[in-house]
Amino acid sequence: MKNNQLLLVSRPMGTPKEANFAVQSTPIKPLNDGEVLVKNQFLSIDPAMRSWMAEGKSYINPIQIGGVMRAMGVGLVLDSKYPEIKAGEYISTELGVQEYSTLYNFTSSQRLGVQSYVYSIKENNLPLPTHLGALGIPGMTAYFGMLAVGKIQAGETVVISGAAGGVGTIAGQIAKIKGCKVIGITSSDEKCQGLLHDFNFDYAINYKNPQWKDELMGICPEGVQLFFDNVGGDILNTLLGCLSKGGRVILSGAASQYNNMAFMRGPANYLSLIVNRAKIEGFVNIDYYHQFDEARNEIKNWIQAGLLNPDNYVVKGGIDDFHAILIDLFAGKNLGKMVMELQTLN
Ligand SMILES: NC(=O)c1ccc[n+]([C@@H]2O[C@H](COP(=O)([O-])OP(=O)(O)OC[C@H]3O[C@@H](n4cnc5c(N)ncnc54)[C@H](OP(=O)(O)O)[C@@H]3O)[C@@H](O)[C@H]2O)c1
Repeated sequence: MKNNQLLLVSRPMGTPKEANFAVQSTPIKPLNDGEVLVKNQFLSIDPAMRSWMAEGKSYINPIQIGGVMRAMGVGLVLDSKYPEIKAGEYISTELGVQEYSTLYNFTSSQRLGVQSYVYSIKENNLPLPTHLGALGIPGMTAYFGMLAVGKIQAGETVVISGAAGGVGTIAGQIAKIKGCKVIGITSSDEKCQGLLHDFNFDYAINYKNPQWKDELMGICPEGVQLFFDNVGGDILNTLLGCLSKGGRVILSGAASQYNNMAFMRGPANYLSLIVNRAKIEGFVNIDYYHQFDEARNEIKNWIQAGLLNPDNYVVKGGIDDFHAILIDLFAGKNLGKMVMELQTLN
């Protein structure tokens, strides 16, 4: 049996090019003790992939040149020589952009620089991509960012940038469940409608409208109590100027900057933090790893109670379509978490 893999063969300058990747076909070897063979079915397409391709230390190690492009995924276990994982079950972990993965060293993996994130999908009544969205890393990021870091309270005004993305759609719904007034920022009127009608936001603002800041201040003249930022750049800078006294800014990510890291600029409006006695705080979801099961159970209950819509943006493709799908992600084509349904190459 052969495995088709997508390798990172050079580090991108700016936006990744097709030439930064190459397809390789390798035979699948028989398993050693402790190993598991997985047929990869869904891959999570993430803005963070861009930073994983860059040299230098981030919160996890960069992908090695010649290594398989990193991706979280959901797959079916075909064979297992690891007692706690059985053939026939679905698992979610770092599978990589490849058709099959041979996994090993689950309990003490150093590959991520953290304890490996592997979970077995015991209950299968939700669509599999949900385990990469609301119950996966975006859900964990939204949950711990809003609740553990942001400590949102009922009645607060919460603004979310990148609101129509994987993290944003869940973060907004969690803030709604907790009784906040929720305002999402996104790039088109169509995505604004999606936020209002599919993801239960109270207000949605199109940042392509030159008057978007006035629109925001019209909705919350008292200022923003919590800003959950997924995009950085100009939107972060503008929001710093819209905080209420004692406002908080939670830095989840900076999707607007990832293709242009060499020219990253800090926000000029940061003195607003002094004037407003405000705080800005970054976080990484993996610091809450030991509470993921708890968070997943609560999110699952919200889904089952009809309080949280876990819909994802699923696109089909082979590993050779990965580059085009990643470019679509950077262009903001997705409403909800972008997931690739993997099709086998001929
Ligand atoms: N801290 C953590 O632990 C953690 C974990 C996972 C992810 N993250 C971060 O969370 C953020 C969101 O991730 P995600 O999975 O939700 O990604 P996503 O689905 O791609 O959503 C991000 C959205 O950001 C918007 N965006 C992109 N470029 C922009 C620009 N130049 N200006 C304004 N908006 C822009 C796009 O929507 P529009 O169409 O609205 O522009 C895009 O859909 C990322 O920054 C990611 O790195 C953080």
